[in-house]
Amino acid sequence: DHQQFIRNFCIIAHIDHGKSTLADRLLEFTGTVQHRHMQEQLLDSMDIERERGITIKMASVRLSYKALDGVTYQLNLIDTPGHVDFTYEVSRSLAACEGAVLVVDAAQGVEAQTLANVNLAMSSNLEIVPVINKIDLPAADPDRVAEEIEEVLAIDATEAIRASAKMGIGTEEILESVVRRVPPPSGDVNAPLRALVYDSHFDAYLGVVAYIRVVDGEITGGTQIKMLATGKVFDVTGVGVFAPRMKSIDKLRAGEVGYMTASVKTVGDCNVGDTVTLAHGGSSQPLAGYRQALPVVFCGLYPVDSNQYQDLKEALGRLQLNDAALTFEPESSAALGFGYRCGFLGLLHLDIIQERLEREFNLVLIATAPSVIYKVHLTSGETIEVDNPANLPPATQIAGMDEPMVAASVIIPSSYVGTVMDLARERRGVYVRTDYPARDRVMIHYKLPMNEILMDFFDQLKSRTKGYASFDYDQAGYEPSNLVKLDININGDPVDALSFITHKEKAYGRGRQLVEKLKAIIPRQQFEIRLQAAIGAKVIASENISALRKNVIAKCYGGDISRKRKLLEKQKEGKKRMKSIGSVEIPQEAFMSVLKLG
Ligand code: GTP
Repeated sequence: DHQQFIRNFCIIAHIDHGKSTLADRLLEFTGTVQHRHMQEQLLDSMDIERERGITIKMASVRLSYKALDGVTYQLNLIDTPGHVDFTYEVSRSLAACEGAVLVVDAAQGVEAQTLANVNLAMSSNLEIVPVINKIDLPAADPDRVAEEIEEVLAIDATEAIRASAKMGIGTEEILESVVRRVPPPSGDVNAPLRALVYDSHFDAYLGVVAYIRVVDGEITGGTQIKMLATGKVFDVTGVGVFAPRMKSIDKLRAGEVGYMTASVKTVGDCNVGDTVTLAHGGSSQPLAGYRQALPVVFCGLYPVDSNQYQDLKEALGRLQLNDAALTFEPESSAALGFGYRCGFLGLLHLDIIQERLEREFNLVLIATAPSVIYKVHLTSGETIEVDNPANLPPATQIAGMDEPMVAASVIIPSSYVGTVMDLARERRGVYVRTDYPARDRVMIHYKLPMNEILMDFFDQLKSRTKGYASFDYDQAGYEPSNLVKLDININGDPVDALSFITHKEKAYGRGRQLVEKLKAIIPRQQFEIRLQAAIGAKVIASENISALRKNVIAKCYGGDISRKRKLLEKQKEGKKRMKSIGSVEIPQEAFMSVLKLG
């Protein structure tokens, strides 16, 4: 059986522990990529990924490895992202594997996402191959980390491989362990085709490219297939593998990972998680899917130039092809005009989508402050969901509101316990319990309102703990909460795009802070600007921005010309991001400043 020589595995790790670097070494060692063609972190193909050094979209690659037993194995490696926003990508790739290489930094030890990813891998019954990476670091303490792996993760670490992906130490041992320890796939080659779609992307020439893991049977160009969930039938136009670029081959058999192209017009017809089978005589048993990703953070995206509205729609559609978790629907704002309400998995996801829209599609956008989904009980007895503060009914119609909660865990050195508890208290956190995963480190569990996490929580946590904290969270249902909507008026008119929902106790402080921030952000203009924060009709804070007297150039008249040009350019740069609301120009920053409130 050919499956005996196949190993499907992924690499899981906390962010920055070295997954992508290790993947590069595996590609290089197996000769999948020649060293001279090796671009650092080849699997991170998007520009943004490379610049930010994070893996967003997983990639798959087939390696051919001649093991020490003399046999050549087909190894299918699926790279996974480590950030908390992208847990769904991890769970997807796990569904296509039998094993996981677990990378733990030899200096940092087990962190919050190490734990989260190991839990996902264990619940998918994957064989875990532990690797202690970065042993070249002066601060490396592999013995202590091995202990942590045993104590915290309950994984036998006696065989943990001590490696340095940077220096190429341990690469062969890792490949050998994968071959020896990860079980081969055990599908039925003779059964009708069943393959799991675990990802997809849109290619300008090929159309929808579905990434599949074949479980039973085989698939070739010309096969007529049916998608089990939608019942849609398509003709396969080709199958292939990533090596690491797309390479077409004759067929994919049980146990193999690769891609298929078919006459699929939209990704909606070929959903990630769906099962591919034969159109005639196929299976009716769908494969176990994976954790479905639902957006939890929403914001409005508006083109600064309203002529770009149609372009924005097309661009969002294109990105969605590649990103099942992104949602969007048209909305309009009195202040910002026509745009889209978009749903994301978290703030990083939002940030990345906005950046891609601007970079890859040349759009200039205003994003409004992100919001969670509130459940609003109306006095009429009806309950509605509100993800845009502007759509909150008047207070007189509201009987009560529930807000989404998260179960959060923070791992920190013991000396920061007080710091983290302070922050959690400021954010209305409810203490759950403390674990002691390792010497000198604690893991504190809290239940927190999700809207408090949106507000700069992670940055605060990182800076107050000098970067030592790691953080993970999961959705934890809804709870009733005393919430109010805070409106911002500019020259007497409420600006819908600046409204936000907050706990009543926080409203006064945050309203005051926000008008102060806006005063600092909004440039002085030819006339005086009056800023107010209000709850309903009641103004709780106000500030004035006085009128501009001199113009910018006059100030450095006679000064050197390059300085003048710089000033003008800076102004222009600022302009690009401004949106006129009434007669007042508001910079993009203003819409995000609500996130920086303590
Ligand atoms: P994400 O893809 O963002 O989740 O991160 P990652 O886990 O893939 O980490 P990545 O491979 O990007 O490595 C993070 C940083 O650690 C990079 O600066 C690497 O150069 C560095 N690094 C990786 N492996 C080693 C190692 O063995 N030794 C040392 N000293 N540095 C390493």
